[in-house]
Amino acid sequence: MRIEIAELLKGEKTDIEITVMGWVRTFRNNQFIALNDGSTNHNLQVVVDFNAMDETILKRITTSACISVSGKLIKSQGKGQTVELVADTVEILGDSDAEKYPLQPKKHSLEFLREIAHLRFRTNTFGSVFRLRNALIFGIHKFFQEQNFLNIHSPIISASDAEGAGEMFRVTTLDLNKLPKTEQGDTDFSQDFFGRSSNLTVSGQLEAELAAMAFTKVYTFGPTFRAENSNTARHLAEFWMIEPEVAFNDLKDNADLAEDMLKYVIRYAMEKHPDDIDFLDARLAEEEKQKPTNERAEFGLKEKLNFMLENNFERVTYTEAIEILLQSPAYKKKKFQYEVNWGIDMQSEHERYLVEKHFKKPVIVTDYPKDIKAFYMRQNEDGKTVAAMDILAPGIGEIIGGSQREERLDKLEQRMQEMHIPTEEMYWYLDTRRFGTCKHAGFGLGFERLVQFVTGMGNIRDVIPFPRTPKNCEF
Ligand code: 4AD
Ligand code: MG
Repeated sequence: MRIEIAELLKGEKTDIEITVMGWVRTFRNNQFIALNDGSTNHNLQVVVDFNAMDETILKRITTSACISVSGKLIKSQGKGQTVELVADTVEILGDSDAEKYPLQPKKHSLEFLREIAHLRFRTNTFGSVFRLRNALIFGIHKFFQEQNFLNIHSPIISASDAEGAGEMFRVTTLDLNKLPKTEQGDTDFSQDFFGRSSNLTVSGQLEAELAAMAFTKVYTFGPTFRAENSNTARHLAEFWMIEPEVAFNDLKDNADLAEDMLKYVIRYAMEKHPDDIDFLDARLAEEEKQKPTNERAEFGLKEKLNFMLENNFERVTYTEAIEILLQSPAYKKKKFQYEVNWGIDMQSEHERYLVEKHFKKPVIVTDYPKDIKAFYMRQNEDGKTVAAMDILAPGIGEIIGGSQREERLDKLEQRMQEMHIPTEEMYWYLDTRRFGTCKHAGFGLGFERLVQFVTGMGNIRDVIPFPRTPKNCEF
């Protein structure tokens, strides 16, 4: 029977005959195999008696070979591990030419590992990152399911631009070398697969709103796509988003839900994989040591996460946030590259100042100017702002974006016209406002930004298995 290494290392059972399978991390002195099967970063020490072992087998126990070992699990004699496996038989399942294997048992840069993303799963760093990513996925479903939210699959191919930002990837089966034309000379999408032009979705929100108008509490968890040419450590062209939508909620309820959710899923992941958190905490501390003192983060990873769990998020309006920036020493000393005034779309330097320097914890900024936000956000009485909220996290910037929705048909139609959003095509969205409209609110959590926050990884490309970014679609 094959047993997983994480299970064995608990050391609950010894003196039993077992089989393990995994990949060789190292093989020392023809005697000690460090074996890993991905269930934990800790390797199982396998002891082989090289006098008793067939020499051809011994030679094939190389870095990253896949092997099956049967033998007796005993309490470890040496230090550094609780148990070890005394091998009776070693079977080579898959050979690995150690000389050609790109992942040598030494420290590689994250940039290099990105180029061999098909193999980086086999490193400790990515082992920890992807186990935590998995725990966060499960934790999110658990949080919503425990509160009777319905999970809705929103479509991946869509004809509408939910965010009205025009950053979409087109989906087509037309022959690009022979595009059919209309009489006006435009591309004739009536001949395309769907009989109209279509794109990969940028957000499942609008569909989630439709479902919330029947089920009250829903959430989506799906891939979303943005063709924004942003080559930053926080942007992907393909990322996963969680979008809850709740009927009868206002902006405050929405912020409460977001804060509860973040705390719940972070606690869940930390409790599920404490070893991985410890590993990444140490990794980050090591990385920070390489930086000049004034650039080092104030908190370690675990410190940061615990601090966030134990404290309330700060809540300020956009107008207050701008005031804080204008009064800041950074502004007065002209440290900001971009200008600050009421109406700006805050740049990441501004967000980071608020979160990392001023409040030193996550901040929920509400009531943004309507001109920098999407058409569906509820218009406030002042005529200038909308009931929007962004949650800004230390080291990440915007992790959540959401709002109370404009539920009043006349106001919504008027705003759509002002923003040149086609109201006829969006009849289905407007129908919810025609037939039993009500107050409702929701938000979108960028899943990879959450994984970055929990793992402390600086680059978003290192928290998704196969990142898609401008000029990069490998694997
Ligand atoms: O702020 P955004 O654009 O909001 C929406 O899409 C709304 N429809 C959400 C809603 O109210 N239901 O995106 C939401 C979040 C951002 O806060 C950010 O965390 C993440 O999605 N995000 C990205 N993550 C990685 N790469 C990108 N290019 C991202 N763009 C947005
Ligand atoms: Mg946003």
